[in-house]
Amino acid sequence: MTITKASSLKKTASVFLLFLLFFIQSACTKPAHNPDAQSPGSEVVSGVSLSTVTISPKEQRLRSLLSSPSAVFTDANGEASLLAKNILNNTEEFLQDLEGVLVNDIHDVLILADKNHYLSETFVPNDIIPLKANDLYRLNRNDLSLRMPAEAALREMSQTAKNEGISILVSSTYRSYEYQKNLYERNVKQLGKEAADRESARPGTSQHQLGTAIDFGSITDDFALTKAGKWLELNAGNYGFSLSYPQGYEMVTGYRWECWHYRFIGKEAVLLQKKWFNNVQQYMLEFIHYWRNSEK
Ligand code: DAL
Ligand code: ZN
Repeated sequence: MTITKASSLKKTASVFLLFLLFFIQSACTKPAHNPDAQSPGSEVVSGVSLSTVTISPKEQRLRSLLSSPSAVFTDANGEASLLAKNILNNTEEFLQDLEGVLVNDIHDVLILADKNHYLSETFVPNDIIPLKANDLYRLNRNDLSLRMPAEAALREMSQTAKNEGISILVSSTYRSYEYQKNLYERNVKQLGKEAADRESARPGTSQHQLGTAIDFGSITDDFALTKAGKWLELNAGNYGFSLSYPQGYEMVTGYRWECWHYRFIGKEAVLLQKKWFNNVQQYMLEFIHYWRNSEK
């Protein structure tokens, strides 16, 4: 090898080494690219850019949704703000719990139907089945029907109740838009509009149209004092049923206390409601409604 050739090879090697050093340095200082992560901001300290906390788009969505809780929850004395605050302090755990419930909602039983969120006149669930006389629960009329998942849960619950000496009486279940319209109009005639609106849903706003709500027993306040009323209050949640209009929440639900009206939402959703929404169904369903809408 000639001297010229050797020195040219040496030069090439040094250039290559320099490139290698540069490459290694930039690989170490650049943050790894994560398409799912977004940096909410960065800090510049002595000319070095430091990424602060990285939050996912989901967390970002949660934060913007809850930054104004009054837009998400109908509030009662600031309770919704406290719930929102608690969620925001535990976003990772909350999102994990929420996703678990939403993924399991294969029967779509978390639809919001309330005074501000209407179901269409033509909304009829496609898995409604008639309730037939059986030895687990009693029927107070022969034209009752429910969505299949709600009926299955009712059967499971009634079996345990029966084993414990409790008799479950089913009094009102699925109601069509038309049926609810007649019922509401009858209530307005009997009670006057103001009183009717506290306990009877206008057509298109009743949970009964969803086919997952059940009125048990006498459909009066006294039901709360009966063995069945007390048993349901304690146990219905274990079967996925939740009391829709609890005592002291008329400002939130729009209806006075109805100790007889339960709605099937699934066992997982009942746990979510208890853990994050102070066991108030309305808060949870409102939140889920806006959460799903913010995804679109
Ligand atoms: N009683 C409830 C609010 C309904 O009519 O659906
Ligand atoms: Zn009801």
